[in-house]
Amino acid sequence: MKTINSYSSDSFVIEGGRELKGSVRVSGSKNASLPVILATILVKGESVIEDVPELLDVWTAVEILESLGGYVERENGRFKVNTEKISRWDVPEEIVKKMRASILCMGPLLARFGKVLIPKPGGCSIGKRPIDQHLKFFERAGGSIKEVNGFFQIEIKKKKPVEFRFDLITVTGTENALLYLSSVRGKSILKNIAIEPEVMDLINVLNKMGARIYVEGRTAEIEGNEDLKPFTHRVIPDRIEAGTLMVGAVMTSGDVILENVNVEHIGNILEKLEEAGGGVEILSKNKIRVFRKEELKPVNIETAEYPGFPTDMQAQFMSMASISKGISRIKENIFENRFHHVWELRKMGADIEVKGREAIVRGVRELRGAEVKSTDLRASASLILAGLVARGKTIIRDIYHLDRGYERLEEKLGKLGALIERLPVCVS
Ligand code: EPZ
Repeated sequence: MKTINSYSSDSFVIEGGRELKGSVRVSGSKNASLPVILATILVKGESVIEDVPELLDVWTAVEILESLGGYVERENGRFKVNTEKISRWDVPEEIVKKMRASILCMGPLLARFGKVLIPKPGGCSIGKRPIDQHLKFFERAGGSIKEVNGFFQIEIKKKKPVEFRFDLITVTGTENALLYLSSVRGKSILKNIAIEPEVMDLINVLNKMGARIYVEGRTAEIEGNEDLKPFTHRVIPDRIEAGTLMVGAVMTSGDVILENVNVEHIGNILEKLEEAGGGVEILSKNKIRVFRKEELKPVNIETAEYPGFPTDMQAQFMSMASISKGISRIKENIFENRFHHVWELRKMGADIEVKGREAIVRGVRELRGAEVKSTDLRASASLILAGLVARGKTIIRDIYHLDRGYERLEEKLGKLGALIERLPVCVS
């Protein structure tokens, strides 16, 4: 399988000052693709998943399936996943270390084998990211959990329907529970669940497979099915990639048409974009025009669980706020350490003060090109956006982080007029 040049620490070089103009197609969602790919573990047979983005994290999910005995064929975004021969329930340590979302194997492997052996996922740069809620659910579902040399060994001898309430809203915690319960006969209830579009997309897939899942507010009723079937599914568009491109259009005084967006999923982003001086024209339910309407204005943002403002868009809006006229306040309520981009934006002349979970951004007239470092996926995106408007040249190192979650972003931006080039590690 062709994989993108992933393990080099490539750099991007950006010449600022160009307006983004034209139209671009948004890729399928990373955070919808991952749970849907791993949901194939629940069945024996061949499932087909359409519009899967070519991303490092997607290849890691494929690696997991293949390490367990599955087989994946890919032809331009269409994945044929055969899980007939999956026979292992131990997830390789080196894979989990690469991608925290590997924990989404727990639900399907416990459903299929009644056991799973998985390394304790590390935290990452944006926070400790514990999985206590995942474990609490599996315990409630009758699991015996042992921690042995940094691995979790979970066994569920007898499957039974459960009623469980999450102490806090967790996206992958909700997804793990749904993946497991989809094959448990009887009626289960999950309370205080996450309702992100990516969770709802997974629910659509599980219902196609034969489960009966019904959501009202933050409560899900699940009628599991012991005889789930393979499925065909097209993943939803990536609302965070869409949001990132929309911020780029507004920041650069551009005018961009985005295809393959789901307008219903981005209401919270559009609202803040218009507040900041962006113009929005809904051309259809999956096509939208975004442009600079007026002078950039400061915005106050508080990240929250969906349908609140997405934490995955916080860094991108901070880049825009750094050149807006006035003071913006950005509060990060979801992760305890998601301001790494601040130190890098300061190198470009941004005036940002961090007080605990709040960043106070005083807009400056312009940013200047500099050499900066990616530290995590969305921070990388914010530095690219800053580079698009900065005076002169910006070099962004360690683009590996970006390749985890954005499909060929430099090609998309280049097509819209940006002067952006990828430098492979050998010359950077
Ligand atoms: C998902 O991560 C996304 N990843 C993240 O996207 C996204 O930022 C996050 O949800 C919030 O929307 C995928 O879907 C693969 P959480 P997840 O469990 O599920 C705490 C990106 O950039 N928590 O909803 O790991 C946790 O520490 C990535 O695409 C517990 O304390 O996030 C965090 O502070 C980054 N105990 C908060 O809850 C638990 O058991 C929300 O975490 C679980 C979570």
